[in-house]
Amino acid sequence: MKIKSASFVISNSNVRSCPNESIPEYAFIGRSNVGKSSLINMLMQKKSLAKTSGRPGKTQLINHFKVNDNWFLVDLPGYGYARVSKRDKKTFQKYITDYFLEREQLVCAFVLIDIRHEPQKVDLEFLEWMGENQIPFALIFTKADKLKPQVIKKQAEAYISQLLSGSWDEAPLYFVTSASNTLGREEVLEFIDGINTDYFKATAVK
Ligand code: GTP
Ligand code: MG
Repeated sequence: MKIKSASFVISNSNVRSCPNESIPEYAFIGRSNVGKSSLINMLMQKKSLAKTSGRPGKTQLINHFKVNDNWFLVDLPGYGYARVSKRDKKTFQKYITDYFLEREQLVCAFVLIDIRHEPQKVDLEFLEWMGENQIPFALIFTKADKLKPQVIKKQAEAYISQLLSGSWDEAPLYFVTSASNTLGREEVLEFIDGINTDYFKATAVK
């Protein structure tokens, strides 16, 4: 898919205030600092479309970006950020969970995982929650540039087999990416394009 346009639309902390256009939407979620905002910029080939930072906790709101005038990308805050107060954590959890539970336009979430790490409890719990609530998702491994090429595939496969040896019966679809060297860009965009095509076919029939 060619990216012809990508622009920021709105930030907010309430799913009910999100844009009400019926176009397919993809959300990026994962631990703080995993590279959600950087990945969005890499996919869009725009350096500072989404705000990034070396310090965790940069993205604080639900941020909508409109792409090619017919779909949305959503940059979300990260979870698992230790330095956020308990009260903030609760508020955060509420608006993010409401977003996932109530956002009808959401066709697929991307759950980002740092490829260097072993499965972490907070990610496993989040994936479990997505499964229980039947929210469609794919995994995106990030920061692959930090590993040697011959280790990348092995590390991703080890992660998936750990999921399968735990509570998952089926391996989730996954992508391996790097915001630094654009690895995985085509694959993720093709995947989105395929879902968009089906979405528009289905809505044209209605
Ligand atoms: P929050 O908004 O705080 O939840 O973080 P985030 O998940 O949006 O992460 P962000 O994109 O802000 O990136 C966090 C840090 O990781 C930044 O210092 C980025 O430069 C770095 N980073 C992100 N993606 C990559 C990558 O693919 N490779 C490398 N080497 N660094 C990356
Ligand atoms: Mg961010």
